[in-house]
Amino acid sequence: MKNKRILLIISGGIAAYKSLELIRLLKKSGASVGCILTKGGEQFITPLSVASLSGQQCYTDLFSLKDETEMGHIQLSRDADLLVVAPASADLLARMAQGRSDDLAATTILATDKPVLVAPAMNVRMWNHAATQDNMIRLEQRGILRVGPDDGEMACGEYGPGRMAEPEDILAAIEKHFAQNKPLAGKSALVTSGPTHEPIDPVRFIGNRSSGKQGHAIAIALADLGADVTLVTGPVALPDPLGIKTVHIETAAEMLAACNASLPADIAVCAAAVADWTPGKPLDQKIKKRGDKSPPDLKLIENPDILATLSKGPNRPSLVIGFAAETENLMDAAKSKLKSKGCDWIVANDVSEGVFGADENTVTLVTSAGAEEWEKAGKQDIAHKLAQRIAAHISQPQHTPRLKSVLS
Ligand code: C5P
Repeated sequence: MKNKRILLIISGGIAAYKSLELIRLLKKSGASVGCILTKGGEQFITPLSVASLSGQQCYTDLFSLKDETEMGHIQLSRDADLLVVAPASADLLARMAQGRSDDLAATTILATDKPVLVAPAMNVRMWNHAATQDNMIRLEQRGILRVGPDDGEMACGEYGPGRMAEPEDILAAIEKHFAQNKPLAGKSALVTSGPTHEPIDPVRFIGNRSSGKQGHAIAIALADLGADVTLVTGPVALPDPLGIKTVHIETAAEMLAACNASLPADIAVCAAAVADWTPGKPLDQKIKKRGDKSPPDLKLIENPDILATLSKGPNRPSLVIGFAAETENLMDAAKSKLKSKGCDWIVANDVSEGVFGADENTVTLVTSAGAEEWEKAGKQDIAHKLAQRIAAHISQPQHTPRLKSVLS
């Protein structure tokens, strides 16, 4: 932890007293610790105790003339290697999820370009409340890291999940974050996600039910392993993941152009559900019902196949992965797609049982070596497993022999 700069944000909760111990542990491990104490946090511990233990000024005020001229909240948010929010109250999580900037803590978190680790702490009912759970899911989808909360007896006398993780466990999570192997460092990855919308006229389009959850999770998982990720996404209701270059497109043609613009890349994962057909040039005016009740004569043309284009193109990434969302004959379709598209792996999933929009997925990884069924798991877990497999494959010796063959 030597030379690591932690910005610890302490929000309002009885667990704030444990954060004093966390400061001590962090200092002991060699890290430097700057602190922000929220108004709520100040109800439990004082800026003086925080400053005394951290050996640095404790920041509390967004509109402090003195602090803003000396440091400034933007600088504060950039001068750290990691932001740790402990305890993270239900209120601060909600403000983070909404992107509020109504105090120094929330503003710093909104302004940062550094990873953020939260240690939630609150009453069990507050933690289990759908609003808090939604906020946490949203934050994790954006790439926010989390430790805890633990199960146990609470200061309020109730029992269950909501206790802040112990300072030793928060320290371990911080150490794990820094020690994490980054096997994809120096590698670039292109990920497509979400549906495409193919406009028919100014108000209608052809789309599909893809939520983008799996593709976005894969982009985050690859970035976690150190890859420089470009995410090309169709219209989804998900936030742009933190620290990932995200390009928004609507149509398949736009997606192809954005993918081509992001090449060369070492890895391409085409998780998007691209419309196979498009009306082409949309009509300028809304199509009106005809008097004779006949439906409009929609002429569709085939869209470019992005996966096949990337797989067969001159700038082919060294590992190209496609998805096969099928409602029947899953394996046959996956195997034939592997051939016809020219990609290296296919992640096959049966979408007949409502995978679209769900948080869980069941997939089979199909490669030239065979098919491997993965257990049903959360889309984030599937993404992490796939990213690990990608990293293992990329680091195999056959992925670096180009230099050797040029030299020999
Ligand atoms: O042919 P099908 O749509 O079933 O193939 C699915 C795979 O092909 C997915 O990886 C999807 O991202 C990709 N695809 C594509 N461009 C298309 C259609 C599908 O990249 N026009």
